[in-house]
Amino acid sequence: MISPQTIEQIKSRIDIIDVIGEYVKLKKRGVNYLGNCPFHNEKTPSFTVSPSKEIYKCFGCGKSGNTITFLMEHDKLSYVEALKWLAARYNIEIEETETSPEQKQAALASESLYAINNFAQKFFEEKLFTTEEGKNIALTYLYERGFRENIVKKFQLGYNPSAKNELSNALLNNQFNKEILSKTGLVVVRNENELVDNYRNRIIFPIHNNSGKIIGFGARVIGKADKAPKYINTPENELYSKSKVLYGSYFARMAIDKANECLLVEGYTDVISLHQAGIENVVASGGTSLTVEQLRIIKKYTNNITIIYDGDNAGIKAALRGLDMAIEEGLNVKLVLIPDNEDPDSYVNKVGTEAFKEFISINKKDFIIFQLEIMMKDAANDINKKNEVVNTVAATLSKINKAEDFTKQQEYIKQCAHLLKIDEGGLINLVNKYRRDSIVKEEKKLPFEEANTLLQQNAQQQTDTEDYFIASNDEVQEKNIIRVLLEKGLKKWNDEQTIAEYIFNELEAFQFDNKQIENLFNEYKSLYEQGAEPTVKSFLYHTDEAVRNLVITITVFPFELSQKWDEVLEGMNIVNRDVTQIDAQLSVAYFKLKKIKKMLEQNQADMEHASFNEQLQLIKIHEELKQIEMQITKNLGSVILSS
Ligand code: CTP
Ligand code: MN
Repeated sequence: MISPQTIEQIKSRIDIIDVIGEYVKLKKRGVNYLGNCPFHNEKTPSFTVSPSKEIYKCFGCGKSGNTITFLMEHDKLSYVEALKWLAARYNIEIEETETSPEQKQAALASESLYAINNFAQKFFEEKLFTTEEGKNIALTYLYERGFRENIVKKFQLGYNPSAKNELSNALLNNQFNKEILSKTGLVVVRNENELVDNYRNRIIFPIHNNSGKIIGFGARVIGKADKAPKYINTPENELYSKSKVLYGSYFARMAIDKANECLLVEGYTDVISLHQAGIENVVASGGTSLTVEQLRIIKKYTNNITIIYDGDNAGIKAALRGLDMAIEEGLNVKLVLIPDNEDPDSYVNKVGTEAFKEFISINKKDFIIFQLEIMMKDAANDINKKNEVVNTVAATLSKINKAEDFTKQQEYIKQCAHLLKIDEGGLINLVNKYRRDSIVKEEKKLPFEEANTLLQQNAQQQTDTEDYFIASNDEVQEKNIIRVLLEKGLKKWNDEQTIAEYIFNELEAFQFDNKQIENLFNEYKSLYEQGAEPTVKSFLYHTDEAVRNLVITITVFPFELSQKWDEVLEGMNIVNRDVTQIDAQLSVAYFKLKKIKKMLEQNQADMEHASFNEQLQLIKIHEELKQIEMQITKNLGSVILSS
């Protein structure tokens, strides 16, 4: 256990901006700092850090805490591990009270792995640069490939000699524990007790974590790989997990931040060659399809990712597999294929830095469009296949987080519909269907109680403005209906109906909660039905002062509601168009949605005291409400998209 004195010392040294800044790009805003929340997907920053209070809070997802809980949550550290992390950062010596044997063991394991990796890296480097074998075989090979000394040193490359157990012996002489040694993958046990070097006669590429510590190695045969695998990599252990690593991220992070773009290549040598050519915002996936963890590493620095792959088919397929996930993570994905059987390493060596950069910038293609074009070529005139293409594209487009990116989604739908030569409205419906399906799927997986939590989370992920309309007190929606009636009620909805009639019909089954607003609504309705053509003026001299004030706040003075509402409309790029219909439709939809959500909440509350049979009944009601809600959401989606 860490002693209380040490804990105090650590706490007194904590600089929350410094620590969180390690993970989140923070910008100063007044007394606080602001950044994109690392705990949920967002494009407009709502993650706020207060240096004076030493706390953070995300206004998007609600997560909050202090520096220690941040490390615990973000890096999945235990309390003690978080303290140790901080102690290491601030060079505070840890004074331990008693530790359990298991704790000692675990701490020892990762400490030892780091120590072994460090030792091995130095060993390999020395062999590469100072032994005849290393120089003649390995260094010559690297130089022949065009890598220069400074880049070889920067990436800490090395060489494992061909003798059976040079490294093994050196490690054993240094008292490293045999059991832990075998976890590193550097050595293997032969004939029960003999340790043999695993990477004999290979070039060694150390793999660093984000803070520059060596967590594993890739080892490449020299020259052509005929029998043995070209690369051998560190097995999964306490430090190394393939799916969570992007090779080169430590060397690239500043450049990625600066360029606001991350280039993603396949291999170790691609990263190193591009660095040598002065292109430093580059990381490698190791040739497999991307994982969410890897995408999140990139997302800490930028939302723009450009995938640069060989033109061969295997590479493209691997890349495409990562696509939907990247879209869900809110990344803008571009793709470039390198021609003529080259890879980024060989290509940059062939054409030079400038031509390489130019090639990338000219040829990078939006991933979604790219995918569409490949599939269309494949499908040619086959109707079934084309149908499949349309569905695949719709499924991908449904992954774009509509709340954050609806202009983007809208643009894509336009473009894709055009390329596919299909009706835009049809594609919109299909995209909405996929979106709905995935929501339903998510909910089916969850027990009833959690479904509601999910619903609330979904609401929270909407943009602030939209969120406001769904999550705020329903007075906002109620007032908004009055506003539309007073401003636009007498205009035409269609050839048979006015906007007012449309609203009366739509809201027939719903009630107002605010009595004043309800009275106003009823009064408007009865005036209308008497043919009085009510407008704002009809109410400005109302005998009831409360009614007068209400009408004034709703229509005459700018107030929160209209400001927010303008933002919604502005976000939809329909400012200079006749927005009457859209305005009415949206107002009705938001009103209903709010009411349904309230009913769902009430239903949920009723559940707590209900008997089993009543619960069954309530679940049924819940499902019906959800159906209605989905229908409204769908309509809302198509109003927004088609506008
Ligand atoms: N890879 C691997 N194991 C293999 C082959 C490949 O882990 N047996 C990973 C490595 O990370 C490698 C990447 O996939 O860097 C891409 O493989 P490849 O294109 O075959 O190698 P290059 O990186 O181009 O290496 P080189 O230029 O030295 O041939
Ligand atoms: Mn290569």
